[in-house]
Amino acid sequence: MTETLPGAAVPNPLDEAAITAAVDLAVAAIAAAATLDELKAVRLAHTGEKSALSLANREIGALPKDQKAAAGKLMGASRGRVNKALADRTVALEAENDARILVEETVDVTAAPRRRRAGARHPLSTLQDRVADIFVGMGWEIAEGPEVESEWFNFDALNFKPDHPARDMQDTFFVEPPEAHLLMRTHTSPVQVRSMLERELPIYVLCPGKVFRTDELDATHTPVFHQFEGLAIDKKLSMADLRGTLEHFARQMFGAEAQIRLRPNYFPFTEPSAELDIWHPGAKGGPSWIEWGGCGMVNANVLRAAGIDPEVYSGFAFGMGIERTLMFRNEVGDMRDMIEGDVRFSEHFGMEI
Ligand code: DAH
Repeated sequence: MTETLPGAAVPNPLDEAAITAAVDLAVAAIAAAATLDELKAVRLAHTGEKSALSLANREIGALPKDQKAAAGKLMGASRGRVNKALADRTVALEAENDARILVEETVDVTAAPRRRRAGARHPLSTLQDRVADIFVGMGWEIAEGPEVESEWFNFDALNFKPDHPARDMQDTFFVEPPEAHLLMRTHTSPVQVRSMLERELPIYVLCPGKVFRTDELDATHTPVFHQFEGLAIDKKLSMADLRGTLEHFARQMFGAEAQIRLRPNYFPFTEPSAELDIWHPGAKGGPSWIEWGGCGMVNANVLRAAGIDPEVYSGFAFGMGIERTLMFRNEVGDMRDMIEGDVRFSEHFGMEI
C-alpha cells in the first residue's frame, strides 16, 4: 500500500478508478490506526488540505460546467465514505480507550489499605522517661540546663583544677571565641551547680540531657550522647542514703534481684567518690557486674561554689550514660544503631522498655 506523497499526481475528480483507489487507501489507513493519536495523523494525511482527495476536489472548479455535477457527486460520495470510516473508527477507538482505562484504573475497594509507617518513639527517649518516672515517684524534681554551657559551670564550679586533663581540647568542644569561655557541656554535672544556685534547699533533682565530647563515632562511642545526673542536698545526708537511693533505682530498672556495688574512684566534684557497678543477671555473656556510672558525696568545694554551707548541708550525686544503659539493659551491641534514625530499630522496642 502506498501513501499519496506530496507532489504526487493529483487524481482527476472525474477518474473514478483513481478516486476510488485514494478512498480505499484512506479507508485502509483508518482501519489500521491503532490509537486515537494515530487516527488523528491519518485524518490529516487523507482529508487534510494537502491530501489527494482535497486536491482532487479543488480541481472541480476548473472543470467545464457540464462535468462539474458528475465530479461533485463522485467526490461527495468519496468524502462521505472516508468520513464515515473516520467516524466509525473514532467510536471504536474511544470505546477501546474507555475499556482500557476502566481496567487500568480499577480501584479494588476490598484491598487492604497500604499504611504509612506511623514512626516510633526512640528507645533513648523512652528509657529517659522511665528513669525520670522512677525519681519523680520518689518525690524528686526534674532539672534542666543549657547544652551550650559556660566553662565555669562545666568545670570550675565542679572543682576541676585549671590544668585538669578533661579540659583539654581533645575531649571538649569549645565554642568560639575562646575568650567567651563557652563550651558544649561534657556532662550533665553543671546542672547540679545551677540547681544549687537556683533552688531552695533541700534539693532532690534528676537532670537528664544531651552531652558532647570530641569522640569519634564507633560501636561504643558517639560525640553526642545522653546522661542523667542525680543530686540530693539536705541536712545529714550520708553515703548510706546514696546507696539506698541507687539500690532502689537499680531494682526499678533491672528487677528485684538487681544488686549494686560501689568501688572507690576519683571525681573532682565528689569526695568520697565511687564507681557504681550493677549486678546484671541477664547480661549477654552470663550474670556479671557491669560498670554503670559514677557517684559520691558532693565535694565541699562544690557546695561552697554554689553558696551552700558544707557544715550544715551535705549531699550526694550520681551520673550515668543513657546510651550505655540501653546497651547493656536491652542488648544493643552497636551504639551507631541508636543514632542512625532507622525507624525499624526504634519499632522493636515498642512504647515501654
Ligand atoms: N560527670 C561524670 C561523667 O560524665 C559522671 C558522674 C560521676 C556524675 C560522679 C556524678 C558523680 O554526679 O557524682 O563522667
